[in-house]
Order: sequence, then C-alpha cells, then structure tokens
Amino acid sequence: MFDPKPYIRTVPDWPKSGVQFRDITTLFSDKKAFRQLVDAFVHQYMDVEFDAVVGIDARGFILGSPIAYELNKAFIPVRKKGKLPFATLEESYDLEYGQAEIQIHADALKPGEKVLVIDDLIATGGTLEASCKLVTRLGAEIVECAAIVDLPDLGGSKNLKDQGISVFSLCQYE
Ligand code: PRP
Ligand code: ADE
Repeated sequence: MFDPKPYIRTVPDWPKSGVQFRDITTLFSDKKAFRQLVDAFVHQYMDVEFDAVVGIDARGFILGSPIAYELNKAFIPVRKKGKLPFATLEESYDLEYGQAEIQIHADALKPGEKVLVIDDLIATGGTLEASCKLVTRLGAEIVECAAIVDLPDLGGSKNLKDQGISVFSLCQYE
C-alpha cells in the first residue's frame, strides 16, 4: 500500500499555536506521488459496490474527483455554507481550530444510494460526522469514510467507528 507520509509536509503552529498542520499540497504537487495516491484509493474501492463519491470542501474535492472519475461514479460536493445555489440541507460542527457549517444539495442523492465519503484528513472527525449526517438525512447509505491522514489522538475516527461508520485512512500521525 502506498505510504503518503514522505510527501506530507508538517507545519508547526498553523493556523494557530499548538496545531501540527499536515500539509498535503506537497503530496499533490508531486506528479508521481499524486498518481500513486489516487491509484491506492481506486484499488481499495474498485471491487466495492457504490453509486457516488461525496467529496468534502475543499481538500476532499482534490482527492475525491479523480477517484470518482476513475471508478466511473458520480461526484457529489459537500460545501462550506453559502456556496451551493439550490435548496440545501445544513449541519454545524466543531473543528480542531474553529467552527463551521456545511451544506449539501437537497436533491444530490436519492434514498438507498450508496456513497463513499472522501476527505483529506480526519482530526476531531467533526467534518466527516456532519457530512455523514447530511448523507443519511437524504436517505443515502454510507459505505465508508476515507481519508489520506488520520490523527487518532483527536478521536475522530474512533467516534465515527463507535457510530457504526466504517473508516479507512492511508496513514496516521500519533
Ligand atoms: C480540514 C480538513 C478536513 C477537516 C478535518 O478542513 O480538510 O476537512 O479540517 O478536521 P475535523 O476532523 O476536525 O473535522 P478545513 O475545515 O480546514 O477546510 P479546507 O479544506 O477548506 O482547508
Ligand atoms: N484539519 C484539521 N486539523 C488539521 C491538521 N492538523 N492538519 C491539516 N488539516 C487539518
């Protein structure tokens, strides 16, 4: 399995003191590593039955789009509040360094559709938890939440698993 860690840059004390920011732009800007990264997720899900990739604003878009394209699935964006033009559902959540609201289009998924939820990183898990709530409020089913990085010390992936949501990550920073 591809190890993305050598390509991820850690920036201390950003965006605020005490946060070790795991910067994945250095992973995306290496063309060989970017391809290996997308291929690792494509390989992981090529034999799994599902209908759509739900990608989370903004870094989840960069990863989720090529995975959806390669696996011939729909791509559904979950966006920060105020960006989607049609009727939306909304959830609020807490972040490692703040608070936010996200939205999904009310007609983005049909009841019973199966989705893979993709983001770059799991910290507190608030973003993925809120995204999963949006997906389930539309009656769709979560096959798995997938990310490049998990920060298990912040408890997000455990919290998701405790709610019965399957979680996959390529690497972890303790
Ligand atoms: C980051 C990251 C995840 C989220 C993880 O996004 O891309 O979406 O935080 O944190 P959590 O597990 O504590 O919810 P951010 O909200 O900083 O937005 P960005 O993608 O626009 O940079
Ligand atoms: N999102 C939330 N916490 C983060 C971290 N430590 N690094 C990168 N993105 C994040």
